[in-house]
Amino acid sequence: MAEKVKLFVNGQEVEVESGKNLIDAIGAVGIEIPHLCYHPALGADGNCRMCLVGIEDGRPPLVPACKTNVAEGMKVQLDTEKIKKIQRDIMELELINHPIDCPICDQAGECKLQDYYMQYDGQKSRMTVPPVLKAKHMDFGAGVVHDQERCILCARCVRFTRLITKTGELGIVNRTDYARVTTFPGRPLSNRYALNVVDLCPVGAMTSKDFRFKQRAWFLTKSESLCHGCSKGCNIYIDHNKEKYQDDIIYRFRPRLNQQVNGYFMCDAGRMTYKLENDNRLNTAQVFGKETSLNETVEALRRSFSQAKKTVLLVSPNCSLEQMHAVKKLSATFNTVLSGYSDGYINAGDGDDFLIHDDKSANRTAFALLGIESSKSAFEAALDGADLLVSFQNDLCRSLDDVTLAKIQEKTKFVYIGSYQNGFSEKASIILPVASYSEDIGTLINADNILQRYVKAVIKNVQVSNLIHVVNLLGGEIKNHEEALTDLSATIAALNNIDLKHIPSEGIALTGKEVSNVAA
Ligand code: SF4
Ligand code: SF4
Ligand code: FES
Repeated sequence: MAEKVKLFVNGQEVEVESGKNLIDAIGAVGIEIPHLCYHPALGADGNCRMCLVGIEDGRPPLVPACKTNVAEGMKVQLDTEKIKKIQRDIMELELINHPIDCPICDQAGECKLQDYYMQYDGQKSRMTVPPVLKAKHMDFGAGVVHDQERCILCARCVRFTRLITKTGELGIVNRTDYARVTTFPGRPLSNRYALNVVDLCPVGAMTSKDFRFKQRAWFLTKSESLCHGCSKGCNIYIDHNKEKYQDDIIYRFRPRLNQQVNGYFMCDAGRMTYKLENDNRLNTAQVFGKETSLNETVEALRRSFSQAKKTVLLVSPNCSLEQMHAVKKLSATFNTVLSGYSDGYINAGDGDDFLIHDDKSANRTAFALLGIESSKSAFEAALDGADLLVSFQNDLCRSLDDVTLAKIQEKTKFVYIGSYQNGFSEKASIILPVASYSEDIGTLINADNILQRYVKAVIKNVQVSNLIHVVNLLGGEIKNHEEALTDLSATIAALNNIDLKHIPSEGIALTGKEVSNVAA
């Protein structure tokens, strides 16, 4: 438990965490100190002077809040006439050459400069000379577009490439009105986290080529979720919008703060996985190439189950804990073999020492917790004599080549119950579409054994069933997500004392022992 200190803000006593600067400590109890260059992940640079406050202890009249730590009994002034005048002066300085771009700027609606102008400034421009013109829409590389005229030179982007990615592609050159952010000649932005500069930029000077001009920020619904791009499980916002007469469309993923998992950031590849949620989706059920209804498909599947001599159920390492548990129970009911074989989801050597992991699946750790065997040898042994292979979200084409799959298919019928069109869905005789993670609720355990929850974000015009419901229609015991959680808590020793229905936003850290001991 962090130590607390009592101090006075505008004469009012507040209790805050010690060891923090005034912006973070006072901000945590709901009192905002305006700031532009400070960011908790990048530290205090002290260059914008927007955060100046008064301290009644004999210090110089005003100090930057980003560089001043809280102390017991401190008397902080945020609203004197002098401070208000300085805030107006700083805003006027920032806006001297700033273009009046708001109507066409992607940042409008989530721009600090725009917000602060309305909140702390509001005066008309006194400029009578033409503004200094700088370069616009510069392609910085890695999908980042820079507008030098909008830049307020807070250096957050520069510090990100120096302190976080340590690639240092960005710098500020020249002085005074001519100072500008740029890349070095022949060295564009090229790190795997470059798009974080778009989130970090407090104004519209850094924009994403992918998102530019697609949607206004105020139309977007921001839903909390988890990235499924690798086993890190970065916390994200799914920004989506359903326009009149249109479907619910995802426009972007953005990182969501979780100090235990991803901090403030996410990788660019994971950010782009939103496209998979919009495109290449399975929408219609099919039996031998003919479109069928849910009932007809379930009937065909039930027939296949009863006629098969040996059935293998193949679950994806991207399925949620609840989905895996439901499929495991189905497997026990029908006495089938269950496998989690998915070697193709692992891209050895691709991970780094920051966020990106080799394993491009979100929930492989749950295999250990539930005792689901995923080795290649066990899968090959399971296929011996099998005439039915039912995949739940697992694209086996990522793990086996076409020749091997063709050989298996000579003797084994393929069924695919999943959300995306992929190599395996193309080979399957029966296809049953189910909701993807952005349309469903579920629990994941990341590579660091942190249990996290994602919730339903997108509601499509035509909603397909969720995977647990389909498993139930096929004869599975678990009826829904709630029932899966109750059963998991009751039957999996490591989860006995965990309230799975109320997982805190930062997740729950399981120990490695808990995760691997179970195999219930
Ligand atoms: S581009 Fe944005 S983040 Fe970078 S210095 Fe300019 S205003 Fe700051
Ligand atoms: S590091 Fe992994 S989980 Fe995080 S954003 Fe990238 S792909 Fe997604
Ligand atoms: S936030 Fe303190 S000087 Fe910029």
